[in-house]
Amino acid sequence: MILTPKLSVLSYVLLLAGCTCTLSVLSSPAPDPSPDPASTKGEWSFVQNGTTGITALEVIVVSPTLILMFDRVLGDPLQIDGHQAWAELWNLETNTGFAVNAVTDTFCASGALLSNGTMVSLGGQAPELPPNVTVPPDGDGRMGLRLFEPCADPSGLTCTLFEDPATLHLAVDRWYPSSLRIFDGSLMIIGGTNVATPFYNNLSPENSFEFFPPKDNGQTRFSPFLERTVPTNLFPRGFALPDGKVFIVANNQSVIYDIESRIETPLPPIPNNVRVTNPMDGTATLLPLSPPLYIPEVLVCGGSDSNDAIPSVNLSSQDPASDQCSRIMLTEEGVKKGWVVERMPEGRMMPEMILMPDGKVLITNGARTGYAALDSVADPVGNSNADHPVFTPVLYDPDASIGQRFDREGLPTTDIARLYHSGITLTPNGNVFLAGSNPNGGVVENATFNTEFRVQFLNPPFMSRSRPTIHSVPEKVAFNEKVTVGIDIPEDLARNADASNIKVALMDLGFSSHAFHSSSRLVFMDAELSRDQKSLTITTPPNNRVYPPGPAYIFVTIDDVTSPGTRVMVGNGLAPPVKDQGVPLAS
Ligand SMILES: *[C@@H]1O[C@H](CO)[C@@H](O)[C@H](O)[C@H]1NC(C)=O
Ligand SMILES: *[C@@H]1O[C@H](CO)[C@@H](O)[C@H](O)[C@H]1NC(C)=O
Ligand SMILES: *[C@@H]1O[C@H](CO)[C@@H](O)[C@H](O)[C@H]1NC(C)=O
Ligand SMILES: *[C@@H]1O[C@H](CO)[C@@H](O)[C@H](O)[C@H]1NC(C)=O
Ligand SMILES: *[C@@H]1O[C@H](CO)[C@@H](O)[C@H](O)[C@H]1NC(C)=O
Ligand SMILES: *[C@@H]1O[C@H](CO)[C@@H](O)[C@H](O)[C@H]1NC(C)=O
Repeated sequence: MILTPKLSVLSYVLLLAGCTCTLSVLSSPAPDPSPDPASTKGEWSFVQNGTTGITALEVIVVSPTLILMFDRVLGDPLQIDGHQAWAELWNLETNTGFAVNAVTDTFCASGALLSNGTMVSLGGQAPELPPNVTVPPDGDGRMGLRLFEPCADPSGLTCTLFEDPATLHLAVDRWYPSSLRIFDGSLMIIGGTNVATPFYNNLSPENSFEFFPPKDNGQTRFSPFLERTVPTNLFPRGFALPDGKVFIVANNQSVIYDIESRIETPLPPIPNNVRVTNPMDGTATLLPLSPPLYIPEVLVCGGSDSNDAIPSVNLSSQDPASDQCSRIMLTEEGVKKGWVVERMPEGRMMPEMILMPDGKVLITNGARTGYAALDSVADPVGNSNADHPVFTPVLYDPDASIGQRFDREGLPTTDIARLYHSGITLTPNGNVFLAGSNPNGGVVENATFNTEFRVQFLNPPFMSRSRPTIHSVPEKVAFNEKVTVGIDIPEDLARNADASNIKVALMDLGFSSHAFHSSSRLVFMDAELSRDQKSLTITTPPNNRVYPPGPAYIFVTIDDVTSPGTRVMVGNGLAPPVKDQGVPLAS
């Protein structure tokens, strides 16, 4: 379980006139007689605050104060124009939400931000016919493209979602696709299904890629990889790699796709036949990238090792989920070595992974048994194919040695199940927003797993401490540039602060849908603290492949205390496709 050595190292850096002296104090591992403040790392906490009016099954931060959420059209209480709303803006300053008008159905869609800061929501389902409704309010969302332009109104009240399905749409129908921002600031759109599918993607899979804005005169690109991964390849998990290629994992396989040469290069399969995409949802993340080499490593966790030739009626909500995490380094040597297997403290179906600004990965949500989707297995719990929610998150430290990476010290337990159709994101403030969960066909109360409207925040220990803050950050930064920003460091951290314990993270907070955060990314930046500790000079990523151009948040972490994030536009801020910027990566 938790293998943290009971040894604490305190090192003080004393800045004296003309000399820098480092003094290290080693405390002995003997039992501490004085009452220990719970843990040396501090306590995290779940805090419930506010309720949404729709099920937050897709979630994206669209400004420093606003989160945009999407759902389906099947009984949510929030109303707009005399009918149910299925899009909602959440104001993080007041913890209240309000309806936003959407035209087409956003159920099981995806999305991301473009290089000019516009949010794109894409795909969805055919119109929903709620009982007794002959004219549904929702248009066919399967080719849906919805734009939320950058909006400076902190309250969000004047912000709008733009849709014109007649002129602005995808090339083909895509329900359950995923998408990610690539090196030219456009979106690559991956897979999905053309029609409603009860469980497996075997009725009419859309085994292709396309782009927004379109490439190839709007034609799709067939993907042999997606064809091979049917029927367990909905919501493929894809990441832009620092050389501009794309890593994709679906079912029990993975591949690197070169967008420019159109070549797919298969990677070794996920060990032990674990399947990691819908309806056997594991999750995946690109681990933080660090200078000078930005070596990409991918972590894939949870899912199921059930055979996907078994019809869903012969699967059970009590089948154990996989506890496997598989990690691979995407260099020639790393691929030769293959996937390295680690084990989470418990199995998780539909886990979520959140990159934290200090470089750790928060693993939360999901269930110990069963599958994603609704009412498909032999013994659903109510309508849920999954059972035994996992109520306690765990942290994964990518830099710790293998066997010591999972840590639960200080992590709290909730009693709110976050199963199918949950949304989660890191906020610009540095804590984690959790909402949704609805493993039901409509809005259900008094079931074992209700439609969940309660919003929670998971607060890291630093939320209750004095935090560093940064200021005078330019709105736009170029690649491969030194940028000096102002910093205020609380006294208790200032003693220690120097280049060795300051981490500066450039982050895309990603788009959350179906146990996956597409486009989520953390690139560490070298930083120098001025002698007076009042300014920080940061070196931005070398080019638009290391950080796909577009919006980002900068967080500064000193020891274990993270500042609130500050939004910046990275790159030239133009509409995609944008030209290559910065300097090539030294190889
Ligand atoms: C909930 O959020 C509001 C608005 O930010 C804040 O005033 C209030 O203190 C919060 N309540 C709790 C319990 O954190
Ligand atoms: C559907 O319509 C019937 C007849 O008007 C009515 O009795 C019933 O309550 C309606 N059901 C719903 C779910 O609105
Ligand atoms: C992956 O799963 C398929 C069935 O979906 C199976 O035929 C194949 O053998 C598996 N591949 C590996 C490498 O385990
Ligand atoms: C699958 O379940 C169906 C319905 O319960 C049953 O008739 C059938 O025998 C099962 N098939 C297998 C392979 O277990
Ligand atoms: C759920 O249970 C509560 C408390 O027993 C009851 O007041 C409420 O009417 C129930 N709701 C439904 C939809 O049955
Ligand atoms: C950003 O680019 C997209 C795609 O070209 C375009 O539809 C959108 O209007 C642009 N937004 C802004 C603010 O220029």
